[in-house]
Amino acid sequence: MSAYDVIVIGSGPGGYVAAIRCAQHGLKTACVEGRDTLGGTCLNVGCIPSKALLHASHMLHEAEHNFAKMGLKGKSPSVDWAQMQSYKQETIDANTKGVEFLFKKNKVDWIKGWASIPQAGKVQVGEDIHDAKHIIIASGSEPSSLLGVEIDEEIVVSSTGALTLPKIPKKVTVIGAGVIGLELGSVYARLGSDVTVVEFLDVITPGMDKDVQKAFQRSLKKQGLKFVLGAAVQSVEKMKTKAKVHYKLRKDDSEHQLDSDIVLVATGRKPFTNGLGLESLGVELSERGQIKTDTEWRTNVPGIYAIGDAIDGPMLAHKAEDEGMAAADVIAGKHGHVNYGVIPGVIYTHPEVASVGESEDTLKENGRAYKVGKFNFMGNGRAKANLASEGFVKLIADAETDRILGAHILGPAAGDLIHEICVALEFGASAEDLALTCHAHPTYSEAVREAALACGMGAIHS
Ligand code: FAD
Ligand code: NAI
Repeated sequence: MSAYDVIVIGSGPGGYVAAIRCAQHGLKTACVEGRDTLGGTCLNVGCIPSKALLHASHMLHEAEHNFAKMGLKGKSPSVDWAQMQSYKQETIDANTKGVEFLFKKNKVDWIKGWASIPQAGKVQVGEDIHDAKHIIIASGSEPSSLLGVEIDEEIVVSSTGALTLPKIPKKVTVIGAGVIGLELGSVYARLGSDVTVVEFLDVITPGMDKDVQKAFQRSLKKQGLKFVLGAAVQSVEKMKTKAKVHYKLRKDDSEHQLDSDIVLVATGRKPFTNGLGLESLGVELSERGQIKTDTEWRTNVPGIYAIGDAIDGPMLAHKAEDEGMAAADVIAGKHGHVNYGVIPGVIYTHPEVASVGESEDTLKENGRAYKVGKFNFMGNGRAKANLASEGFVKLIADAETDRILGAHILGPAAGDLIHEICVALEFGASAEDLALTCHAHPTYSEAVREAALACGMGAIHS
């Protein structure tokens, strides 16, 4: 029907950013979205709604646990779940409408409906077939369940169902101690649910720095979350209004069960490419169903690119955004680049967790000599004043050159603090560069500087 330079399929953080960037390059661009609203998983059922619930429930936690200590006395707030859901929905709407506005501003056409690619250079939506010199697939991901565990989004839910439960459940079993399990587990624990997290491995947040894992689990336990680690879930038995999780402890093969009102399956996500017609096009997929691309996000079929959760790499909104911008730059004939070594990961619990770059484990594996500077938030004036002194900043630098290699933070505003280290990594800074940079007092960022000082002569406040 219409002819475009670029058609982007999917309007999540990968797709909508790619579309805007293409339009900024002067390319005639459209973005196809099958959902009723723009913004993809992230804005509709992911990052944004989960952060709204984390924020609201954290406020409740502060009121219940810290207000009195600060001399704020009075009746503790009660939870109006329907209102909290409305607040969450308003947050979603404000964000999805924001993308709509940005599309109009940048003259990106929003084509409504589910797209398929009948052949390279063509995108079909309903009966309409549009021409596109370039196609960017940004179709995202969907929850993946366990073999034989059926998600009904009522009793056995994925993150999508967990964000919109009709009431706050008394008992919740979370399968998987990864990012979703711990964020949404925290939400319901703060709201009064009895939450047990069942994890296959012997640690929570696999792959994370070991010190962070231990301290983080301790902190979550203090907040009331229970953990069953090293547990292989065998099945989930659904009853009328409840479910029973059957699991075996891996250490002794003993069999156990957990009854709960809600079971949240948070065992990872998988690429969503259904209905695009990739098989008949011959677009190569990995064994895990990810679309294979080269270093410039080209698939093996000329003119078709892919980005975000649908391809390899961490399933993170900002990774998808960066790829969206870079792929658009490549299509516009410019140099598009993503530094995969500097993609921060953040868990928005309280305390927050953030990490970037190398971990001690990977450095040991690679035989690289490193040093560690660690600083506890206990020594940070602002954290003490805010009753938020749990956690630490751990900075890792090359033993010889002092070049910063990575950082792992558990503590207040960790998700913001990490970006100072991202910039340092991008500029190839040394720990001394950070240590010699004046940091305003009193701020949490002083803890980052202290960790950098600890890589050298030593921190001042520990
Ligand atoms: P998506 O956001 O999944 O968007 C893909 C879009 O494409 C969808 O809207 C889909 O409807 C559309 N689509 C698919 N196929 C078609 C088709 N054939 N035609 C038309 N449209 C199509 N990441 C973070 O970085 N920070 C967080 O705090 C965070 N929190 C999360 C919380 C939860 C509960 C979940 C589930 C995820 C979270 N994530 C977070 C991950 C983040 O949401 C994803 O990494 C990100 O959304 C991926 O972006 P994307 O553009 O690749 O795909
Ligand atoms: P995840 O990969 O983070 O965690 C899955 C967990 O489930 C792991 O700990 C794994 O060991 C465990 N597991 C797997 N099989 C199991 C089994 N049979 N029994 C018990 N445990 C089992 O996946 P999650 O939490 O579902 O999140 C999916 C994606 O969404 C992640 O890739 C993440 O990047 C993204 N996301 C990001 C957020 C953020 O950036 N703050 C927030 C939420 C999601």
